[in-house]
Amino acid sequence: SSRLYHALATMGHGGAQGGSAAAAPPVEKFRKDYAALPYSIDSVDLDFNVQTDETLVTSTLKLTPTGGGPLVLDGEDLRLVSAEVDGKELPKDAYELGEETFTLHKPPSSPFTLKTVVGIEPAKNTQLSGLYESSGNLCTQCEAEGFRRITYFYDRPDCMSAFTCRVEADKKKFPILLSNGNEVGRGESGDRHWASFEDPFKKPSYLFALVAGDLGGIQGKFTTKSGRDVDLRIWSEHRNCDQLDWSLESLKRAMKWDEETYGLEYDLDVYHVVAVEDFNMGAMENKGLNVFNTACVLAAPQTATDGDYDRVLGVVAHEYFHNWSGNRVTCRDWFQLTLKEGLTVYRDQTFTEDQTSRAVKRIDDVRVMRSAQFAQDAGPMAHPIRPESYVAMDNFYTVTVYNKGAEVIRMYATLLGWPGFRKGMDLYFQRHDGTAVTCDDFRSAMADANSVDLTQFERWYTQAGTPTVTLSDKKIDGETFSLTLSQSCADTPNQPASEKQPFHIPVSCALFDKKTGKKVDEQLFELREASQTFSFSGTVTGSPDDYVVSLLRGFSAPVTAKQELTQDELLFLASNDDDSLNRWDAAQQIYTRAILDEFTGDAGKGDSLDAAVATFRAALNDKSGDPSLRALNLAVPGFSELGLKLDDGFDPVKLCEALSSVKKALARACSTELKEVYASLYSDAPYDVEAASVGRRRLRNACLANLARAGGFEQQSVKHYEDAQCMTDQLAAAVALAGEATKEREEVLGKFYESAGNELVVNKWFALQASADADDALETVKKLVAHEAFSRTNPNRYRAVVNTFAGANPRAFHAADGSGYAFIRDEVIQTDKTNNQVAARLCGSFGTWKKYDAKRGGLMKACLEEIVKTEGLSKDTFEIATRSLK
Ligand code: ARG
Ligand code: ZN
Repeated sequence: SSRLYHALATMGHGGAQGGSAAAAPPVEKFRKDYAALPYSIDSVDLDFNVQTDETLVTSTLKLTPTGGGPLVLDGEDLRLVSAEVDGKELPKDAYELGEETFTLHKPPSSPFTLKTVVGIEPAKNTQLSGLYESSGNLCTQCEAEGFRRITYFYDRPDCMSAFTCRVEADKKKFPILLSNGNEVGRGESGDRHWASFEDPFKKPSYLFALVAGDLGGIQGKFTTKSGRDVDLRIWSEHRNCDQLDWSLESLKRAMKWDEETYGLEYDLDVYHVVAVEDFNMGAMENKGLNVFNTACVLAAPQTATDGDYDRVLGVVAHEYFHNWSGNRVTCRDWFQLTLKEGLTVYRDQTFTEDQTSRAVKRIDDVRVMRSAQFAQDAGPMAHPIRPESYVAMDNFYTVTVYNKGAEVIRMYATLLGWPGFRKGMDLYFQRHDGTAVTCDDFRSAMADANSVDLTQFERWYTQAGTPTVTLSDKKIDGETFSLTLSQSCADTPNQPASEKQPFHIPVSCALFDKKTGKKVDEQLFELREASQTFSFSGTVTGSPDDYVVSLLRGFSAPVTAKQELTQDELLFLASNDDDSLNRWDAAQQIYTRAILDEFTGDAGKGDSLDAAVATFRAALNDKSGDPSLRALNLAVPGFSELGLKLDDGFDPVKLCEALSSVKKALARACSTELKEVYASLYSDAPYDVEAASVGRRRLRNACLANLARAGGFEQQSVKHYEDAQCMTDQLAAAVALAGEATKEREEVLGKFYESAGNELVVNKWFALQASADADDALETVKKLVAHEAFSRTNPNRYRAVVNTFAGANPRAFHAADGSGYAFIRDEVIQTDKTNNQVAARLCGSFGTWKKYDAKRGGLMKACLEEIVKTEGLSKDTFEIATRSLK
């Protein structure tokens, strides 16, 4: 296709009205078709007149021709009231309204003003994109393409403009009025009031935000390193205001960290965070006015788990860090999304490593890569971190763009070292501040700042799939230990393995002496070819078998590392490796062998279960170890990760059974130690979120989960619930009981619901039942969908039940009779009518159909076909379903 990106971006669905896939397939946009805009929008003045049903939006754009020709602006679900150019109402034949466009046929050839008035209906906006209502308050979500649902505009990130905004609304119903930047005016008359704002920084439309509502909040202050006082405001519905302290604290820590780590300072006088109940994603970095899902803001001991505290810390920091990596320097087009997201995830991950525990955070992040990202790489939605095409951009806010993108950034830091990476970051911000750029610009800044050649590194941006790095050959020549590393990468959509070029992979390795347990040497090998031989320094003697290689330390690249290791060598690494990630990984490999042996029926033959029990027991007995790491070492790999190790065509329920049988066997074999450790970790000290307390709870609750699995622990679980001082412990008890229909389960679940302190706790109550590995799981989920507190319009509530079932309950989802699939198919079709982003994500559950046995694969495929056939299907869901069928 040689059509201009510009034309594609603005021509909507190519005739498919309102996104109806049945009429004609939605248009796919390609990265290679990028073209600069023919007009710049230098400034935009917005006026929101909030009425009961309709909000009138008056937009005044100052445009300058940069190429000329027709002016084609984006717009969706807008009621055009009037349009004028340079103060004159446009005659009807001067412009044309498409389904998703406004075209001015012959704009003036010198700078001009375009003023439009449109009507929008926030209360009817169930897509939660654009201006919408949440609990009676108004808020916006514009990324990626939501601003076009507010007014006509070049709704793409390379259109950067100066924004002013005025909001007028009912004083009683909307006492708080907010938009980006500084408040510059305020007034009232009768029962209406207004406020006006000016954002001193040019920005793309996706960073625009407006909030109007009855909100409460807390206030704080941060003084930047150059002495600027910043007013910090965290807002939410009044009933949530006692749960905002932790997010304010998180924000302050993030501001300090970014100054200390990158020298980056905040640039406005005020920073708002607004937490709303209805939100499609986690949060949004709008300039000076972040809008958050309550799930990423609220935290109090009685309602939030330790994991929730960590999420709030990480997401608040993530959105704050975007002020530089995203806002000051933004993306030229949406294909570059990882430019800001991969970089910002890397920044928030390392921030959390510094704030909590480096080792624990790294393992948590690697688990996400191996379970979710590797699975995406292995399925029909596999894409490079910089995708080549999309139909609905919202489908590409993925674990690949975000988390693999962060691993790619981490590799720059690994290859260049911290000082070199920091030099590259400085140059990147210095060169590109105030502009919209590409991933290539970032790579050039890294290369130029360090005078290195990063040409080959580009392949991480162009090639999809998880590379495999194999240690194939170990040799001792004289006193030198050498090894051969080779790489390959499987087929991904449109990219056969045979056409893939070798990646530039930093492979961190260490050599251990089996006899002494000592580390001989440690090296960062840069694998650039299909196969290469590297040497350790440090003298060795004897045979290569006297040594063990610790491969891919710290997960130095987003690859699968392979080497033939004996059970003894794995046990050696599990106890001797000084890299905590690889020590954990060795344990994971031991567990994997036991589970896969159980799955294939080879269990009796080897000693894999014995090794697993020994590993499990060692973690329990490691009294001096970090309790969080001990807990991580008690956790076996999950369904998704294990499935990636099996050939296509396997029976998923059989895998669930093998998994739960090994988990039971471990718990039963070590029940004495589990009880001992469990008892030793009791504490009635007041709640705090220090690493030591978090670790204690994590390990104690891991023991509880295992004891529950071993059986006969119901009464103690009830007691655990009753004694609990915080949500972390309460939830652990409820989860421990959820798997079996007992009177204890009913008792605790009943109390849990009755005493739920906020809506997020109710979500936990829904989710823990939807994910319970119970025989009556589907029945339970159907009851939950019929429950009075269930909601199809609140994404958190909906996902707690439906997405949780599809994604975290493999045994029930993959039930042989297809009942789990049918339930999810119907949910996708129904929910697509109200919230296409949520439906499209859910539809992704069917993407793994080729992995399973013919019967299940066939049932899943039939669900996808049914979904594609649905009349009026959104382009989001259409794209996921059609890609999945290929
Ligand atoms: N930029 C947001 C973040 O910090 C995510 C917004 C995504 N929204 C969407 N509808 N796709 O990660
Ligand atoms: Zn982000």
